[in-house]
Amino acid sequence: MIDQQTVNQIFDTADIVEVISDFVTLKKSGANYKGLSPFSNEKTPSFMVSPAKGIFKDFSSGKGGNVVGFLMEHEKLSYPEALRYLANRYNIVIEEKELTAEEIQQKNERESLMAITAFASTYFSSQLDTDEGRAIGLGYFRNRGFREDILKKFVLGYSPEKRTAFSDEAGKNGYKKSYLVKTGLSIEREDYMFDRFAGRVIFPIHSLSGNVIGFGGRTLKSDKNIAKYLNSPESDIYHKSRVLYGLFQAKKSIVSGEGCFLVEGYTDVISMHQAGIENVVASSGTALTTDQIRLIKRFTQNITILYDGDEAGIKASFRGIDMILEEGMNVKVVMLPAGEDPDSYAQSHSSSEFLKYIQTSEKDFISFKTEILLADTQHDPIKRAQLITDIVRSVSVIPDGIMRSVFLKESSLLLGVEEQVLYNEVNKIRRRKQEQQWRREQSGRSLQQDQPVTTMPRQPVVPGFVENIYSEVEEREIIYFLLKFGNQKLHISGEEHAEISVAQYIIREIQNDELEFTNLVYNQIFENVKELIERGDEVAERYFVYHDHPGVRELAVDIFTSRYELSKVWKRKEAYVELPGENLGFEVPKTLLSYKMMVIEKALSQLRKELEESEKKQDIETLNQVIRRIQSLEGVKRELSIGLGGRIIIR
Ligand code: CTP
Ligand code: MN
Repeated sequence: MIDQQTVNQIFDTADIVEVISDFVTLKKSGANYKGLSPFSNEKTPSFMVSPAKGIFKDFSSGKGGNVVGFLMEHEKLSYPEALRYLANRYNIVIEEKELTAEEIQQKNERESLMAITAFASTYFSSQLDTDEGRAIGLGYFRNRGFREDILKKFVLGYSPEKRTAFSDEAGKNGYKKSYLVKTGLSIEREDYMFDRFAGRVIFPIHSLSGNVIGFGGRTLKSDKNIAKYLNSPESDIYHKSRVLYGLFQAKKSIVSGEGCFLVEGYTDVISMHQAGIENVVASSGTALTTDQIRLIKRFTQNITILYDGDEAGIKASFRGIDMILEEGMNVKVVMLPAGEDPDSYAQSHSSSEFLKYIQTSEKDFISFKTEILLADTQHDPIKRAQLITDIVRSVSVIPDGIMRSVFLKESSLLLGVEEQVLYNEVNKIRRRKQEQQWRREQSGRSLQQDQPVTTMPRQPVVPGFVENIYSEVEEREIIYFLLKFGNQKLHISGEEHAEISVAQYIIREIQNDELEFTNLVYNQIFENVKELIERGDEVAERYFVYHDHPGVRELAVDIFTSRYELSKVWKRKEAYVELPGENLGFEVPKTLLSYKMMVIEKALSQLRKELEESEKKQDIETLNQVIRRIQSLEGVKRELSIGLGGRIIIR
């Protein structure tokens, strides 16, 4: 553990230009530094570092963040690793939080467990040289076509038939019984110990840094009543949901190749390596977990799922697809011919045949899902609707808006459904999720006293206003002014307030009309700016760039590094080609009015739908109510257009 004071000291000392210069050649350009993106292969520099703000932004890949973020991204370090790197570079002594007696014991225990698994792994692999091991274990591996170099690379081994062979040997070498039991290598009975893996061939499981932390043992018998594989139990060193089989051996080629193949089993990984495809891992012995996906994400953005073409394989791949999309990664799927798994296919084909098969049958997740599901929905409208829902749900978990819209375009074509309809569905699902997540966060927050607390999105002031889809652009525009120009003074034409800051003005306008941003990240920023202003502070860039909320951080970096924001609002009219910020007294009120107009327009279109329905149903009472609401909103709209001087075109 690194204590908070040291973390602060590291952040204060680390010079982002200096640190990044170790990896990228930077040239001064105004107040900033520029260089070629280390994340892409560009010819003209679009990688920017701002020493004043302590951030970098790579316009070619969209990546951006603070100095620690750069190291995590570029060097694939974890957060504490990045901090240690900086501490080391700037000779900052890390005040390790003093370990409690309990923590020391835990640390010692982990080391003891790891010593035993290392010993066991050496023991098992050396057994391939004994008479029994050669005949049985090595014979089995040879039969399966595993080469000698591959046995070594994966440290495969064999555990003798004699049920106490390993436990006895470990005892002789002074390893404690209790640790043998905790690692699951030995099983304890009243008066004796016996080996978990006796008579099985052994697949050691390595940690990212190459330590053996667990084992898989395959039986050599074909008896259906015996489990094919036995795996190490969970222990202090082995958490199966956070481990991927083969990642240690694959990580180099995942980074240098274009991504990572995900397969089901130990033997799939091994045979693919043997065929020369080394960027492959398996979630052996457990259904794929989010932690495992994040492990891969440290090395690549691209995962290709390679599962058997059977029912179970398809089901597993569907589940995997959504989990991978949710992490913001790209996912493709390759289905193998019926009856084949990657192991059998690699053994019966050359590596170039295998690669060719992958290239030609690789599908993005939408074509894959559509193809599989469409097959049995041809003439069944209910099933068709389910298919659409299914695909929309997958798209809705993708964090990046641009990616979502690309996939919606494709789905629209494949499914023959209007893009706008799909778009609305996706937004509905996302909004519901955001609200749920927000509630969860709030209930967690109340436990932590010193966290900033935001208010629950209030019922919007305009009745009937349910979805807020199209005002996203305007909301973002407002946040843009709030963050980028929040401290600047405004002189609004026609208003007598001598001096008011952009932030104060926006807060006043939003609060007066009791408006609420639908995007929760914007909402969070708005509430934080409000708190800062109420405290008499300025809108400080660092506050947002180092914010707790990753969404806020990301957006802030984006806004502070964008030279200008070419949103729809500003592109709409030729007349306003000047960049925002050149005439704040005009632009800020205009954006706010435009936003309010949008909210009203949407409410009106919702009301018109209700009007139609109540007409159809001859529901006079509702009809009258709706008409009154429409009239009152039309009134507000007229007032607002006067405020806009007739300059706003209502879409
Ligand atoms: N598995 C397991 N326990 C079992 C069966 C399977 O932990 N009883 C895990 C193993 O990690 C295995 C993976 O699930 O590698 C896939 O199972 P399966 O396809 O049945 O095994 P294969 O890897 O194909 O093994 P083999 O080729 O030796 O049959
Ligand atoms: Mn197999």
